[in-house]
Amino acid sequence: MRILLIGGTWFLGKAIARTALSAGHHVTTFNRGRSAPDLAGVTAVHGDRTDIDDLNRLALHGPWDMAIDTSASEMAPRQVLSGARALEPVTDRYVYVSTVNAYRGWPNEPLTEASPVYDAPPDADRDYGADEGGPAHYGKQKAGCEGAASAEFGERLTILRPGVILGPGEYVGRLPWWLNRCARGGSILAPGAPDKLIQPIDVRDVAAFALAAPAGAFNLAGPRGRDRMVDFLTACLSATGSSGRLVFASDAALVAHRVKQWTELPLWRTNPGTWAVDTAKAQASGLTCRPLADTVADTWTWMQSDDAPVKHPRWEEHGIDPAREGQILAGL
Ligand SMILES: NC(=O)c1ccc[n+]([C@@H]2O[C@H](COP(=O)([O-])OP(=O)(O)OC[C@H]3O[C@@H](n4cnc5c(N)ncnc54)[C@H](OP(=O)(O)O)[C@@H]3O)[C@@H](O)[C@H]2O)c1
Repeated sequence: MRILLIGGTWFLGKAIARTALSAGHHVTTFNRGRSAPDLAGVTAVHGDRTDIDDLNRLALHGPWDMAIDTSASEMAPRQVLSGARALEPVTDRYVYVSTVNAYRGWPNEPLTEASPVYDAPPDADRDYGADEGGPAHYGKQKAGCEGAASAEFGERLTILRPGVILGPGEYVGRLPWWLNRCARGGSILAPGAPDKLIQPIDVRDVAAFALAAPAGAFNLAGPRGRDRMVDFLTACLSATGSSGRLVFASDAALVAHRVKQWTELPLWRTNPGTWAVDTAKAQASGLTCRPLADTVADTWTWMQSDDAPVKHPRWEEHGIDPAREGQILAGL
């Protein structure tokens, strides 16, 4: 197949590029050439997806069997709309990487693909939903981007709605923080109930599904009921060879200490729908999820490698100050 990756040099986009190249596909990547070098073996086209002249120049490199749009985490719907419009004449199928945040009910309700998504115009600009702040703004923007891709590709569109993606190359800093914390050892403040079920998914499993998915919308997360918080943290201890000791604090104790959910102790969130994402539809269409322990171990290997993590500004959002952690542990 001839595949266009919008992005293609960073985390998910890079994982898709690697998977596609190793399957023998012809891969074109399109990005500004700022974040990371192009992968060997791709046809690299540089330009800005917010610039219509760059998009029209990109279209001259087509046609493609499939375009996969991974670079839209901060794009407005109207930018996805103009990009999809420029590429539609030379692209058979479009895969838009959205997020579970596009659902109105996330993270408070269990989700299937039939759950309502936010209402957002396909030509909305970046300000749309900004008054509601953080997650709702992001969710509305992504829902609008889904609508924009749908307006141009209709039945030829695949929408992927991943939850938390982990694995080698993770720039957000969630799993890297836990691995570094476990490597430091000692008493480790572990969040919530040990048997709390979680559903992170490996970036390489998202990549494989993105290349093979049929048209339609799909939730992407780890299998429900498989992984517990204690399994995840034990895997972090094991991967780093740490003799650290997990000390679990209840949700109530962490809330009383005003620990910031999702960031101070990454992956900890008390909202009941956070990890209640139904993935049966994707599994029926071929999604397979490797063991979480493999994701953890491979991420630690990557962190020690020459391809070592670029410290993205989002890393700074994650983790608890050691003195504060010690204070909370002392009070348990
Ligand atoms: N991480 C998670 O847990 C998670 C969960 C759910 C959904 N998602 C979604 O998954 C996707 C993440 O994909 P990702 O990590 O591969 O990439 P990303 O961080 O969204 O995008 C980065 C890529 O896009 C390129 N890019 C950025 N701005 C560009 C522009 N104006 N024009 C052209 N290229 C541009 C970057 O290269 P240059 O900077 O060199 O241009 C880089 O290749 C996002 O859509 C996100 O919303 C992520």
